[in-house]
Amino acid sequence: MEFRRTHEAFRERWEKTDDKMCKNSMSFHLHNTLRREFFASYLFMLEQIPLVKLYAVTCEYIMGEKQFYYRAQNFYKNVPASEEGMMGGFMEISEVDLEGSRQFLKKFVGPGKADTKRALDCGCGIGRVSKGVLFPVFESMELLDMMEDFILHAHECYLGDYADLVETYYLDSLQDFTPPLDRYDVIWMQWVACHLTDKDLLEFLRRAKESLRPKGVIIIKDNMARQGCRLDPVDSSLIRHVDIMKSIILQAGLSILDVQKQEGFPDIIVPVWMIAMQ
Ligand SMILES: C[S@@+](CC[C@H](N)C(=O)[O-])C[C@H]1O[C@@H](n2cnc3c(N)ncnc32)[C@H](O)[C@@H]1O
Repeated sequence: MEFRRTHEAFRERWEKTDDKMCKNSMSFHLHNTLRREFFASYLFMLEQIPLVKLYAVTCEYIMGEKQFYYRAQNFYKNVPASEEGMMGGFMEISEVDLEGSRQFLKKFVGPGKADTKRALDCGCGIGRVSKGVLFPVFESMELLDMMEDFILHAHECYLGDYADLVETYYLDSLQDFTPPLDRYDVIWMQWVACHLTDKDLLEFLRRAKESLRPKGVIIIKDNMARQGCRLDPVDSSLIRHVDIMKSIILQAGLSILDVQKQEGFPDIIVPVWMIAMQ
């Protein structure tokens, strides 16, 4: 192959540990170049390795926290606890989004499928998805988010009477959270898988699998790149090609039940896909 030598050289370097890469940490500009040149084209196109390793951008620590997660925390501190905040300003697509989710969920819940006892909303924010999609279906709900303000707003205001159906609020980060065993019929992850590194997402999915009840499903709904993998360094979100996402899911030991694109969003918006797995 024409790029064989470069390929070998990069590959050898890439196999170093997190620590080693940390010591050799380069400037953020170089990280960006790596992201563009290396993640999007090299790994995906040349080597066809869809599971992207993000050493360079995720291993640096700031104030005791991984830079990647620290940036996301900082970003969400300035996001208002409102529907508009949850939608990143794209309020006009919220209802289409919720309707798409309701229809997708129907495929996996009901007689002969997943039960309706309890669901977990991961990265719930103020509870927009819980209120519009999950509460009308499930007997009880559990909600998780890393931002206290969002959870407080959900409980005290946004969810209204639905708040009485919440069994537990988890104020935690998904990468640190171990869901209880055998507990959920549905685990919904909307616009939060993008905030986990590949490794943390894979490990969370492994733990989430163990927390499903019989016939339970995990549903990821997220932005998916048209090509490769793209990092937004402002809010530390990763937009992955749907094949990369599928690869992570399969490596977590889950099987994919269905993959569907959300219809009805304007073209300027990154494509959003729903993936159901168990
Ligand atoms: C774009 S908002 C989406 C909120 C909600 N899922 C929705 O669709 O309306 C992303 C949410 O994920 C939460 N989040 C981001 N990274 C997280 C992490 N590592 N662990 C837990 N929550 C996280 C943010 O605090 C925020 O509430």
